[in-house]
Amino acid sequence: MTELICGNSESFQKTLAKIELYAPHSWPALILGETGVGKELIAKKLHELSPRKSMPFIPVNCSAIPAGLFESELFGFEKGSFSGAMAPSKGLARMAHGGTLFLDELGELDINLQAKLLRLIDSGEVRAVGSQRIEYINIRVIAATNVDLYTAVSAGHFRQDLLERLSVLRIPVPSLKERKEDIPLIATAILERLGAKFSPEDLQILNLFDWPGNVRQLRNILIRATVLGKMKVTDTLLKTLLKEELRDTTVTAPPPEREALLQGPLEAIEREIIVDRLKKYHGNRKEAAKDLGIAKSTLHEKIRRWKEDPSIKKTWPMARWASPLNLA
Ligand SMILES: Nc1ncnc2c1ncn2[C@@H]1O[C@H](COP(=O)(O)OP(=O)(O)OP(=O)(O)O)[C@@H](O)[C@H]1O
Ligand SMILES: [Mg+2]
Repeated sequence: MTELICGNSESFQKTLAKIELYAPHSWPALILGETGVGKELIAKKLHELSPRKSMPFIPVNCSAIPAGLFESELFGFEKGSFSGAMAPSKGLARMAHGGTLFLDELGELDINLQAKLLRLIDSGEVRAVGSQRIEYINIRVIAATNVDLYTAVSAGHFRQDLLERLSVLRIPVPSLKERKEDIPLIATAILERLGAKFSPEDLQILNLFDWPGNVRQLRNILIRATVLGKMKVTDTLLKTLLKEELRDTTVTAPPPEREALLQGPLEAIEREIIVDRLKKYHGNRKEAAKDLGIAKSTLHEKIRRWKEDPSIKKTWPMARWASPLNLA
């Protein structure tokens, strides 16, 4: 059995409902989401909950196979079909016969190789390199990517016909930032699995971080905390590790400002993000609000409140550049 997929938030419940609904079918499915959100875990779960569960689950890392080898890796080859082909190879697609073929990192697949997948997906057609014989296999194709394939199609990097074939069933996976209420739950499950000692209140600090690396980044920090804390994970230790993480993974802002952030309340982080976004759009609130996914009126209200708060007014980074850009 694969690991438990944790998450109670409304957005993640929608993902879980889709997994249950789509698992019994053999239609292609496309899992979309940022790095580390759990796409591979979900692909395995779709297989496990399907009638194919006793058959193979074969992952294919589309970004790791060199372009020249993709066809022979996927469809196999005949003995002597190229120099070095001493014995025939079955290929990953035929190995998945009866089960699931998982095309991971699909967005990284060279456009010239994408056409080679069309017939496989349409009818299970496979022809080994160096062979004249066409075979038909029974597979379910699941693909995953953190690339926005719709934009990639418009940019000419991804074939529309392939995207249409693969996205019959679509499973968008929300980032951890979009479902912060799941963080304590996932952290608890991970720490329990690690056998660490901790108190649930100490995990609240984890909600202050944005987790660009999603669940994988959260898991890594918790493993680090368990090792460094010799199985005892505390609020202070997590705070130190989060500060380090912020320092090591952020290059845009001066470290002292970033470091100071985690000492303060959640609102301070929100302010930092808003200031960053306003800078990006040269003070244009409409554009910044759109990018942040909030109403312009909400942004106005927040700025108005901060500007009236004497404790913030002095320290707020925006105060330094607000007037020339007329943000007052
Ligand atoms: N909802 C979840 N509950 C528990 N663990 C999870 C959850 N989502 C992800 N994980 C764990 O987080 C780690 C990353 O997950 P996974 O490899 O599936 O991500 P991914 O979306 O495929 O990432 P990438 O795009 O970088 O390949 C794994 O250890 C996985 O077990
Ligand atoms: Mg993955």
